[in-house]
Amino acid sequence: MLRITDAAIQPFEQKHTNLVRRLAPEGVIMLKRDGRLPFSEPSKIAVYGSGARKTIRGGTGSGEVNVRHFVTIEEGLEKAGFVITSKDWLDAYDQVRAEARTSFIEEVKEVARKTGTNPALVGMGRTMTEPEYDIPLCGEGSKAIYVVARNSGEGADRKIEPGDMYLSETEIRDILAANEKYENFVLVLNVGGMVDLSQVKDVKNIMLLGQLGTPTGDVLADLLLGKSYPSGKLAMTWASLEKYPSTREFGGLDDTFYKEGIYVGYRYFDTFNVMPDYPFGFGLGYTDFKIEIGEFAANEKDITVDVAVTNCGHHVGKEVVQVYVSKPEGVLDQPFQELISFAKTKELKPEETQVLQLCFPTTLMASYDISQASYVLEKGEYIIRVGNCSDDTTVCGILVMDGEAVISKVKNICPEWGFDDLRGCRTIKSEKFENMPRIYIHSDKVESNEVSYNTNETIPDIDDAVRWDEVISGLRTLDEFVGSLSLEELIYLCLGYFEEDNEAASIVGNACVSIAGAAGETTRRLREKQLPSMTMADGPAGIRVSEQYKIVGGKPKGLTSSISDLTEFFDEETLKHMAEMELPPTPEELVAKTHYIFCVAIPIGTTVAQTWSMDVAEQFGDIVGSEMQMFGINFWLAPAMNIQRSPICGRNFEYFSEDPLISGRIGGAITKGVQKHEGCAATLKHFVCNNQETNRFSSNSAVSERALREIYLKGFEICVKESQPHAIMSAYNLVNKEHICNRKELITDVLRSEWKFKGIVMTDWFATQTYVTDQSGRKNKYPVAYASGCIKAGNDLCMPGGKTDFEDILNALQEQNHPYHLSIGDIQRCAKRILQKIQCLGGSV
Ligand code: BGC
Repeated sequence: MLRITDAAIQPFEQKHTNLVRRLAPEGVIMLKRDGRLPFSEPSKIAVYGSGARKTIRGGTGSGEVNVRHFVTIEEGLEKAGFVITSKDWLDAYDQVRAEARTSFIEEVKEVARKTGTNPALVGMGRTMTEPEYDIPLCGEGSKAIYVVARNSGEGADRKIEPGDMYLSETEIRDILAANEKYENFVLVLNVGGMVDLSQVKDVKNIMLLGQLGTPTGDVLADLLLGKSYPSGKLAMTWASLEKYPSTREFGGLDDTFYKEGIYVGYRYFDTFNVMPDYPFGFGLGYTDFKIEIGEFAANEKDITVDVAVTNCGHHVGKEVVQVYVSKPEGVLDQPFQELISFAKTKELKPEETQVLQLCFPTTLMASYDISQASYVLEKGEYIIRVGNCSDDTTVCGILVMDGEAVISKVKNICPEWGFDDLRGCRTIKSEKFENMPRIYIHSDKVESNEVSYNTNETIPDIDDAVRWDEVISGLRTLDEFVGSLSLEELIYLCLGYFEEDNEAASIVGNACVSIAGAAGETTRRLREKQLPSMTMADGPAGIRVSEQYKIVGGKPKGLTSSISDLTEFFDEETLKHMAEMELPPTPEELVAKTHYIFCVAIPIGTTVAQTWSMDVAEQFGDIVGSEMQMFGINFWLAPAMNIQRSPICGRNFEYFSEDPLISGRIGGAITKGVQKHEGCAATLKHFVCNNQETNRFSSNSAVSERALREIYLKGFEICVKESQPHAIMSAYNLVNKEHICNRKELITDVLRSEWKFKGIVMTDWFATQTYVTDQSGRKNKYPVAYASGCIKAGNDLCMPGGKTDFEDILNALQEQNHPYHLSIGDIQRCAKRILQKIQCLGGSV
């Protein structure tokens, strides 16, 4: 573990920041362009909007990365030589914003007072709605940008009101006025998710910049000056909120019904002929491309399409080729089309051509048939389409299945969701297929398998003591070590390390003893046996730890709070109380050296997915992996893989896409990048259906077995199979009335038996300990998850762990009538999996 005592910028920071600056434009998208970008040189520019000076580098909560410094848009433009002519506007806006922020904090405190709730909990994830104001657009010159910024984070969903999901009246007025006033105008979106642009979509240029971590402002300057170019594509459909089928019932406190079934995102818009503002897969750069379809080949195993892409514009650029399939409708209704493969070109100069070969497994087109508890390819025609967005595809060939093929026989896992899913009424638009190449496939030749579900392994008890170093040196086996452990030791292994006098270390994960400000670690109670503990730190936009710490009493002590934002919501009395509780520095602390961990913030998950590039995603993972290795972090609590079911979800910025193929493949690439570093592991989260923040600890996602498997599990499945992550974090919520961490069908049957996942499963933080009420103090309908239920389900680790977890597990062993009655074997199996990870990843003693 590297301990840096020099406050100066380290070479790794510079290197990683430069790499982020170079890669980030691949996730930036022009939603509209007039052909005047890029500018030939830096000049005078008027800069307006909330994100100009108060730029957002990533969201709030555990997803926030504490950085040394990040480049705002104002700073980035000035560094690049632009002269900002609207400083008066920016100063006036600062004042308006400061006043609005004071009232916002007061409102949060007031809610907390009224409901008797901790203000940090009420404030968590809540972000201020953009205020309304009237400041003259004073900047001179012919160029202007207007930067709309939006922030959000764990604990709250976005607000369906002007200033959040919608543009405020001020924003609409000023964007339209600036578009008129300046010859060159760009609306820049410094957002983590969708904003309804319907009122301004005709302005000259719209750039979805996103939130790009440490070099955000530099990246924009590079893009404006043509030192780089945008080449991203949307990974989520953008449309007015009322058009999404999920909007009406979004955010139920107790239950949220996923009635749209498999019709999520473009699967809905394309099937039901609803026009979005910007379709899935859409994105312009500075140039244009021509896509020509070449050879189409298919057999029982693979489908291959050759596509020639030519840059027919005047700037360099990269294009993304997307392949979709329209499946035949038999017993199962089907969406108009589903993404089945994609590839990005290299950088193409004007007139340059590249031929891409896209190849994907035939079985990837299977659907889930609940009546047979199987993934099947139904009989009929599979129409393969190629294009550069879901709204612009051309048929390239047809695969004809002569009968039904059962690809995989499994079992139904999550019954009783209690409603009928929306059914598609697909109209294949009047397309002519006569001259299309047709390839016939024999259903009985398609590979098929039947899953056998895990039977429990038993580990014999042994009487003599075994030390961990004996296991590492090969003298004793892992089973012998497990068999030698006392019941207490076994239970402690299945709980994170908690100090009894400091159980609720923090609201946002901050329960790690070995690394200041990190989220948690595995137990340190078996140190006598030389057993190391493994550390965990949050992501996904980099690594979240305290930037400065001292070693006091042998332990790192953070000098900066990792929840600094939340303390804003405390009243003076609480702050005074906190200050009083803070012990004065000891003589040892006063003289101890300060250490520095300045990690680099990478772009948010959504931007990474918008690159549609596994190569880029892997490089981002590589940045994180190398910093983890340097600072002794074993588990990165990322990538975050939930489906962007609704644009309202407050954590969408951490997530990748509304589509499971992109989520799975991008997540897989990041995982590979992280895990190529020795001792470093990715933790896919939040498994599964954690698609809203409203009452996230206790909300039940009611979802059909088919939608669960085809949409919500699919991304995790692809990622697990492609990259074998070392860990998965189960989500807080319930699926069909049971907490996921207590659901054996998901944690053991699906993850381990069906997907052959070899890692550990940990809970989300405090999932088993608190939250009998929601944020307003109302009693929740569903009970809190059980720690014993976790062990029974095969959820190996309860994080960050606590005394009540310990007691519950012990009770479950002793009481026959306990809802999750346990045997010692249940605990040994979980403990063994954790030990297997320590064996492979190491850790610190
Ligand atoms: C979040 C997780 C995070 C954990 C540890 C939870 O509140 O939901 O995403 O990894 O805290 O900080």
